[in-house]
Amino acid sequence: MRTRATAEFERRFGAAPAFLVRAPGRVNLIGEHTDYNDGFVLPMAIDRDVWIAVQPRDDGRVAVHSLDYHETVGFPLGNISDEHSGWGEYIKGVAWALQEAGYSLTGWEGILASDVPIGAGLSSSAALEMAAARAFAAVSGLPWDATQMARIGQRAENEWVGMSCGIMDQMISAAGVEGHALLIDCRSLETRPVPLPPGTAVVVLDTSTRRALLDSAYNERRAQCEAAARFFGVPALRDVSIEQFEAQADRLDGVVRRRARHVVTENARTLQAAQAMLQEDAVELGRLISSSHASLRDDFAVSTDELDKMVTCTSNARSASAGCYGARMMGAGFGGCAIALIHTNSARAFARDVATCYRRSTGREAHICLCAATNGAEVMHHFP
Ligand code: GLA
Repeated sequence: MRTRATAEFERRFGAAPAFLVRAPGRVNLIGEHTDYNDGFVLPMAIDRDVWIAVQPRDDGRVAVHSLDYHETVGFPLGNISDEHSGWGEYIKGVAWALQEAGYSLTGWEGILASDVPIGAGLSSSAALEMAAARAFAAVSGLPWDATQMARIGQRAENEWVGMSCGIMDQMISAAGVEGHALLIDCRSLETRPVPLPPGTAVVVLDTSTRRALLDSAYNERRAQCEAAARFFGVPALRDVSIEQFEAQADRLDGVVRRRARHVVTENARTLQAAQAMLQEDAVELGRLISSSHASLRDDFAVSTDELDKMVTCTSNARSASAGCYGARMMGAGFGGCAIALIHTNSARAFARDVATCYRRSTGREAHICLCAATNGAEVMHHFP
């Protein structure tokens, strides 16, 4: 990706780019649908990234060519309009949000290349937003404050693109730490890097199904969580303990009760998972990951038949008893990927057995890959 972007840049502009920036996609070990409840998440930036090779322009315009879409998007920083849809809106949205936050921006032109799968739940849009923010910061000489930039990316997505996501994806793409997952408190935005237990790895299990009707279902879940927070008289479900929940839950409407139970228990599981990681306890971490799946499936109702079958295959797979600690659906839900925590030694056999099982039970091909934990958005090269 890196060479694709720089080689095409040199071909088009006849010189090396001034900067090469990258921002990663992510997986989330645990802490699903907790970010917009001011809760805890435990994501990891992965070695699938958006790369942009850029050079500044002095006419206040931005022009980006995407090697994946074979399309160029251009706009003036002084008058950004949102008449189009598509990948360019994420870049315009970031430019808009940076200017709204008071930053003075320099224009640029560049080549963009990505290997973050689109719509698979690996946060290709947050990676694009954070790569764009990195590019603007580099050419405009802005300091890189990961938390501030994540907020800008979230604002671009909420207000420019119109998707009311939480802060998790932008935070991890901006602030990831190589070799670690990041425990993020989505209220204070404090982060704490935590390493995977020794000898373990995270496998991405793509169901090859893509999310449908996600926005409306996501917004409905958010509204149900807000209704539950109002019932408990707190700003967000983060403020409700399992004991408080259990003491009052029978007075809640059945659906809202199940949604709230997921969030309250998932917050507790996420903190326990970070503890298990610090104690190098892969078995406990795997157990928590698997209970997260049951909760997302039964209480939050965001899993699908394919995601459930994939997770079942991880426990059925012959090699799994030896090497798989736990698995769950990941991200917003309704399609996309599951993840499994496995013993590094069993990776190959695990991937083969799960793929065979998934093909037998769904007739679909699973795309399975190991992922490594990387840094968040960074400038990879500053050419003199
Ligand atoms: C999507 C959103 C995130 C988060 C997850 C669910 O990825 O973008 O903010 O809410 O869903 O955990």
